[in-house]
Amino acid sequence: MPLSYEDILENLTEAVIGVDNGLNVVVFNQSAEKMTGLSRTLVLGRPVSDVFKHDGRLVEMLTETATDGRLWAEYEERLSRRFSGPIPIGITTSQVFDVLGSPCGAVALIKDLSGIKSLEAATLRKERLAYIGEFAASLAHEIKNPLSGMRGAAQLLSRRIKDEKLGEYTGVIMREADRLNGIINEMLDFARPSHLNRRPLNIHRVIDSVVLLMREADAKEAPAFVKNYDPSLPDVYGDEGQLTQVFLNLVKNAKEASIACAPIVLTTRITTDFQIAPKGGTSARTASVEIRDSGSGIRPEDLERVFTPFFTTKAKGTGLGMAISLKIIKEHGGHLKIDSTPGSGTTVTVYLPTTEV
Ligand SMILES: Nc1ncnc2c1ncn2[C@@H]1O[C@H](COP(=O)(O)OP(=O)(O)OP(=O)(O)O)[C@@H](O)[C@H]1O
Ligand SMILES: [Mg+2]
Repeated sequence: MPLSYEDILENLTEAVIGVDNGLNVVVFNQSAEKMTGLSRTLVLGRPVSDVFKHDGRLVEMLTETATDGRLWAEYEERLSRRFSGPIPIGITTSQVFDVLGSPCGAVALIKDLSGIKSLEAATLRKERLAYIGEFAASLAHEIKNPLSGMRGAAQLLSRRIKDEKLGEYTGVIMREADRLNGIINEMLDFARPSHLNRRPLNIHRVIDSVVLLMREADAKEAPAFVKNYDPSLPDVYGDEGQLTQVFLNLVKNAKEASIACAPIVLTTRITTDFQIAPKGGTSARTASVEIRDSGSGIRPEDLERVFTPFFTTKAKGTGLGMAISLKIIKEHGGHLKIDSTPGSGTTVTVYLPTTEV
């Protein structure tokens, strides 16, 4: 069968809306139905201002084009829809003439821009993050030098000062300078592209060393741990130092959210949910490590912000723990998942590729 204008119109991905001189809708293709959520049987023959009650700009444009011949090209607007939220669209209008050359209406070609827009937003976000990272790294360098000068001077002062009360103040200066230095080092770590030193690792040993570190750091305050280790778990392919940092961050968060005595449950297993490919390698079996606490939980509105650098709900928090952990796990070709119920606890699951295929 020969191709008809009708077929072409129906198969365009753009919505086509045509109005006659009386500004009634006379063309409404399939994409127009899909984009607006309106059925053409309800639309055809009706005044365009009725059909697009909530899209005043589109009505104005079609009216101006039909009556004055004014044209619009790729005009960016939002289209309200019947069953879902508005979408960004691009509108192009043309005046329509009959065979005798008299104007007989107008047509609008509408492009759905939601895909492009979300892509643009994601790219922009990434560029901005990269820029902030660079900026933060150079700022951090600038801060470190005067800071170490200040700390050194405070140390010198502390040796000369005999008055004990005043000695306390120099102590405060030094401690706070050290804390600031720590934050800056973490920030630099975060901004710097890291080099992983990966080898087969027994992840149970890594977690055990973290548990030990917690005990050593503060024997009295250390939480209880319940270990559900899968003894048949193969080695993961990872950087020991970096993964230790990840689990330390996660276990510390679990502890900080918990009330005393509530144990933190550490569970390891092989997951069959999905396979992940280590960077540049073939797909490997996936190990999961679950850190479950029965602490305060995370409010739903905070959940997606926990990975944002400097997001913290703690008076003394830096808000870098989760952001750094996510970065390290991603560099390993793994995933991080959080489930949380406010008031009853949080489970963070780390997925890592193993050495087994
Ligand atoms: N297990 C958890 N239970 C409850 N809230 C959590 C948990 N893990 C993370 N959060 C929330 O996410 C926020 C960010 O965590 P993140 O580890 O990045 O920073 P932080 O713990 O506040 O500071 P720090 O840089 O010292 O780790 C926390 O302030 C807390 O609100
Ligand atoms: Mg933390």
